[in-house]
Amino acid sequence: MIFVTGGAGFIGANFVLDWLAQHDEPVLTIDKLTYAGNLANLADIEHDRRHHFAKVDICDRAALDRLYAEHRPRAVLHFAAESHVDRSIHGPGDFVQTNIVGTFTMLEAARAYWGTLDGEARDAFRFLHVSTDEVYGSLSPSDPAFTETTPYAPNSPYSASKAGSDHLVRAYHHTYGLPVLTTNCSNNYGPYQFPEKLIPLVIANALAGQPLPIYGDGSNVRDWLYVGDHCSAIREVLARGVTGEVYNVGGWNEQNNLSVVKHLCALLDELSPRADGKSYGDQITFVTDRPGHDRRYAIDARKLERELGWRPAETFETGMRKTVQWYLANGEWVRQVQSGEYQRWIETHYRTND
Ligand code: NAD
Ligand code: TYD
Repeated sequence: MIFVTGGAGFIGANFVLDWLAQHDEPVLTIDKLTYAGNLANLADIEHDRRHHFAKVDICDRAALDRLYAEHRPRAVLHFAAESHVDRSIHGPGDFVQTNIVGTFTMLEAARAYWGTLDGEARDAFRFLHVSTDEVYGSLSPSDPAFTETTPYAPNSPYSASKAGSDHLVRAYHHTYGLPVLTTNCSNNYGPYQFPEKLIPLVIANALAGQPLPIYGDGSNVRDWLYVGDHCSAIREVLARGVTGEVYNVGGWNEQNNLSVVKHLCALLDELSPRADGKSYGDQITFVTDRPGHDRRYAIDARKLERELGWRPAETFETGMRKTVQWYLANGEWVRQVQSGEYQRWIETHYRTND
């Protein structure tokens, strides 16, 4: 069995669904079900006997120890985190707690369990930590893309807390020999992404006739990767990655925010035209910039290609089309997640941002 923390969130759920579509090895999803965790993301495997679920906080050491004793996993895929930069600006405490203390607790529980293994089980055990390119800080337009040796320079409470967790993971390998792997990935998009992040927010607002808020002048650049490609990279790293190593994962696809939003509007104009015949582009609104907004992220994913033969399968065009089609076909999922807490976030954040 494998453990997947954060498996009810965006990337974790995609990972669990893809895993069970390709393997018979059972999965235990460990998730606290914060505002971002949603069992509806796993509805397709609700009756799948290979999938188990535990509503557990990764800071709860005793509960983690019980799960290890009961299920004896051969690997842990650690996705659980507070993940939204804007929320980390409004309230950094949860980010320090889950991303740093939670990862520390996960490492301690894994170390204790790994210490009970011997022989093949001990050699085969893996702890894969899922992290972000944001730990490397911000690039200027002419800088080369982030490599695995780019010095850490996190700028937001989110990226600083993820950087802290990466350092702990590294230290547990060097100090205790824990067989860890770390992936640092660029911005993901795709099905089941919570509509607080740029791409699903723009799709949901466009269809609801709301403004499409672009921070600053829309020239900030991100390197977009379809979530299924992130999941395939993680499977490769888990299967064949060298313990103690870091692998950057990226889409070779830099876009500024304004181009991303215009691309989405063009797709929506084609797939679900506005009743008045006008373009969704008319809803674009420029709002006050995010404090400390990183200018540019870009990932150099050549190590992953060279050593493990991984390349993304989707282009930006194919991935975005699939994503828009998924949101159009899953309006009920969007309505369900846009519940009370979501409304409060939108009102607080975008009121201060207008
Ligand atoms: P998400 O916010 O959609 O999901 C996070 C999940 O973790 C939720 O299901 C939530 O309930 C769970 N969780 C939060 N705190 C928890 C706790 N204390 N105990 C147990 N579960 C808890 O996030 P995501 O976008 O799916 O990101 C998953 C991972 O990938 C994160 O570690 C993130 O840093 C990393 N990452 C994300 C992106 C991206 O573009 N979204 C890019 C690179 C890396
Ligand atoms: P986001 O999806 O929050 O990811 P991250 O901050 O982790 O990169 O934002 C992606 C980009 O879109 C980022 O440059 C901020 C910008 N953005 C907007 O312009 N408007 C919005 O309403 C949001 C949520 C993000």
